[in-house]
This record gives sequence, C-alpha cells and structure tokens, in this order.
Amino acid sequence: MSTDGWKNPLRDPRDKRLPRIAGPCGLVIFGVTGDLSRKKLMPAIYDLANRGLLPPGFALTGFARRDWETQDFGQVVLDAVKAHARTPFNQTVWDRLSEGFRFVQGSFDDDDAFDRLEQTVEQLDEIRGTNGNHAFYLSIPPNAFPVVCKQLARSGLSAQEGLDQWRRVVIEKPFGHDLKSAIELNGIVNEVFPEDSVFRIDHYLGKETVQNILALRFANQLFEPIWNSHYVDHVQITMAEDIGLGGRAGYYDGIGAARDVIQNHLLQLLAFIAMEEPTSFSSNELRSEKIKVLNATRLVGPLDETTARGQYAGGWQGGELVPGLKEEEGFNPESHTETYAAITCEIDTRRWAGVPFYLRTGKRLGRRVTEIAVIFKRAPHLPFDATMTEELGQNAFVIRVQPDEGVTMRFGSKVPGSLMEVRDVTMDFGYGSAFTEASPEAYERLILDVLLGEPSLFPVNEEVERSWEILDPVIEHWAAEKAGPDPYPAGSWGPESANTMLARTGRTWRRP
Ligand code: BG6
Repeated sequence: MSTDGWKNPLRDPRDKRLPRIAGPCGLVIFGVTGDLSRKKLMPAIYDLANRGLLPPGFALTGFARRDWETQDFGQVVLDAVKAHARTPFNQTVWDRLSEGFRFVQGSFDDDDAFDRLEQTVEQLDEIRGTNGNHAFYLSIPPNAFPVVCKQLARSGLSAQEGLDQWRRVVIEKPFGHDLKSAIELNGIVNEVFPEDSVFRIDHYLGKETVQNILALRFANQLFEPIWNSHYVDHVQITMAEDIGLGGRAGYYDGIGAARDVIQNHLLQLLAFIAMEEPTSFSSNELRSEKIKVLNATRLVGPLDETTARGQYAGGWQGGELVPGLKEEEGFNPESHTETYAAITCEIDTRRWAGVPFYLRTGKRLGRRVTEIAVIFKRAPHLPFDATMTEELGQNAFVIRVQPDEGVTMRFGSKVPGSLMEVRDVTMDFGYGSAFTEASPEAYERLILDVLLGEPSLFPVNEEVERSWEILDPVIEHWAAEKAGPDPYPAGSWGPESANTMLARTGRTWRRP
C-alpha cells in the first residue's frame, strides 16, 4: 500500500489533541524548602518531565537561605519526587531533568544573592538553551512578595530582553487578607510584572473535576434548560477536610477558613457553576464571564443568621483522639481563628435571582470531600398518596470534585412491588470507571500552563479583588463579635449554628 500523501494525524499542528509541550524555558522557585514545594511543585515538575511535556533543556533553580550546593538541592528534589510524584520513577528522565538543576543561596534582602541568581539564569540561557524565558514562582509568605518583586526588578531578572522572550511571575495565595491589602499587593506586583505576566495560582482551577464543570454545562443540552431559578432550589458548595492544623499555625492562626479557602477556591467554584456561557474558551472570554457573575454575587444577611463559624475542639477522628485547635502546637490558646466557615450568597441576575448559594468549609470534619450539589425544587404536584412519597427528597445533581471524582444524580424511582411507592435513587458517573487515563495533578496542569503562557486557569486581579469585596463584610462582622467561633467536636460536621443557619429557610446540609 502506498503511503504517498498520507499525513500522520498526530503530526497535524491543527490537531488540538496534540500534547502541549513547553518551549525552551526555566523555572526559579522561591521557598523551595517549604511544604508546598516539596509535596506539590517538585513532584509536578518531575511528572511533567516524565510525560515528555517539558523542553529538553528545562532548568529548575532553587533559591533559599539554606547553605546548600546544587547536589544538596538535587537530593531534596529527588526525595520529594520519590515520596510524592504521581508517575513511576524513571532514572533516565531523572538524569536528564537533574542536569538542569541549580541552587542559589541567599535571603530576600540580599542584593548579591539576586545578582548571582541573575548570572545563573544567564548561564542557563547559554548552557541549557532556556532562551531568556523564565518564570519565577513565589512559594513564599505574602509579606515577602514586595521585597522579592523589587529584587527581581533591581537585578534585571524581571525584564524580558527580546520580544520573543518572556518573564513571568507565579504567585501562590493568599492574595492579601482583605480587599485593601489585595489592591496594595496587586499594585506592587504589577509595578514589576504587567498583568499578562502574572499567574495567580488557585489550584482548584487545575483540578480536572473543576474544569469538567464547564464541559458538563456547555457541552450538553441536558442541563442548560433547568440550570436556573425556575428549577433550582439552592446550591451547596462543600469543601470538607478531615485534617487538623498541626504545623500550620504560622500561616493559619489569625487567617481562618473563610480567607483560606472561601475567598478563592469556593468562590471560583461558584463562578464556574453560575456563570453564563462564554462565547469561546479563550482566556478573556472565560474570565470576563467569571467576573460578571462575581460582580452580581452578594452576601445575604443578616450575617448573624446567614453565616456560621466554628473552631474544632478535641475529639475522636478515625479512631484516634485528636487535639482541638487551641491545643495544636503554635496556636494561641485564646485563638478566635475559625476552622469552619459557612456563608450564604445570592446572585443578582435573571438566571439566579432568589437562589441561595451556601458555601461551607471546615477542618477536622467527618471526612475529606469537596462537592457541589445543585438541589432542585420539588415537583409542583405529586399525584401519589402522600404516604407513598415519604422517602422522596429533592432531586439533586452533585459534582464530586474529590475524592471519588465524578457526578451523582439523585431522583425518585418506583420501589418494586404492587404499590406506587417512590423513593430516592442515585445514578453515578465515576472518572475511575469511565476513563482509563489517570487525571494529572492540579499543579502539573498549572505549571505547564505557566510555561506555555496559557492564562485561562489563573484568576486576574479583578477576580481576586471582587472576591475579597464579597467576603470582607463577613470577616469584619466576625471580628467585631466578642465571642469566638462556636466549638465543634473533631470528626463531626461542624457547629450547630451551621445547621440553624440553613434551618431558618427550612433546608438542611447534605451529609456527603
Ligand atoms: C489550600 C488551603 O489552598 O487547599 C489548605 O490553604 C487546604 O488549607 C488545601 O488544606 C486543600 O487542597 P486540596 O486540593 O487537598 O483540596
């Protein structure tokens, strides 16, 4: 058979299924010794290399105060990869990747150290062919952002040299602690990096199940007609964790659950669920729809009744007796930091008018689960004997973000037998059984997108500022209260006040 004129479809550049491979570039991580770097960033970089998605000359430079040589840094990366990488260890991949490692020792106020970093990056351009393309990952506390940004500017590291070269900055949350500080922070970052070079990480947007919200809503005809206030009674967005805060006092005490995850992850989930269809998935279109819906989102009051906050006390969790927050190492024994937060929002648009969105999150809850439950109104009329529908609840469409990623639909069905008895049943889609490919980690997707310069999954400063604007009144309201958060036992589903908050409108939280 002649193959003249045959083109391998995998080589057609218009084929969007082609793996997206980053061009020549390097990544510098500030805060390499931190938990995030070891548990998420280093393993994700290895996984990308293992999947063949990094350029051959890729360079990874660590910057930290530790008195390390490049070999010591390499060993730390190796340990992190062996402990936390998703894909199997491959010596050849590792050898190639680790040739591009460099380490620069110094503190953030040390001009010499930044000058050395600048020389290192220049040498990498020559030796590894990184071509002047570099991303700077600030995996550091936000109070260090200003000094690092200034150093990057002073040493010339932030300046891209040619039109075809790039310099980007990656910022980890928290982006401020309220609207005012977020505006200040964004100002400082934008003085050095133009907004299109700033990549703010909200790792929830890197999750497959979160991106799947867009596929479910906009690739199907099934859901759109009922995705509005005519059919939807309310929406519950839950991010529950079973872990406590031991070891995280430095970051968490005084911050609390609302700032830690509602301001970012949960409001982003709300935006994905509630936004209108973008005309395309270009980053501008997607962001502009998210911004529109966040602009229409507001808190429902009175906040005493429509919000709840709690703090875990000691208790039994998973067969283990665990301490309360106040007993955790490093926390103030008088701490008023909330480890559980729940708020009520509404969205002032024709689609969503009058539909409450309940957002809740907590540490040391019954189990780890993140889900979005869209709860539908009851059928307007039930032509059944009332005793036959006692076990019929409201229809629900539940997006299981993690773990056990998938979707559940709950609806009524006839119980087999001679009576017309109706009871709730569920129908399930699970990623594990529907697909053979395992989902990449959120950080793999996001780091790759940074290197590719693909901004869709990164909130712009307008989104960040708008999210603070939504949340600030709750934080201020809680701060003005004399009493601290309501205690709840570890292993439970939060404080009683959270149940009361929903009960006032005759609703109850789902028990995931
Ligand atoms: C982080 C929060 O953003 O998300 C942590 O700061 C939280 O407090 C973590 O534990 C949860 O991430 P995931 O991906 O396990 O849901």
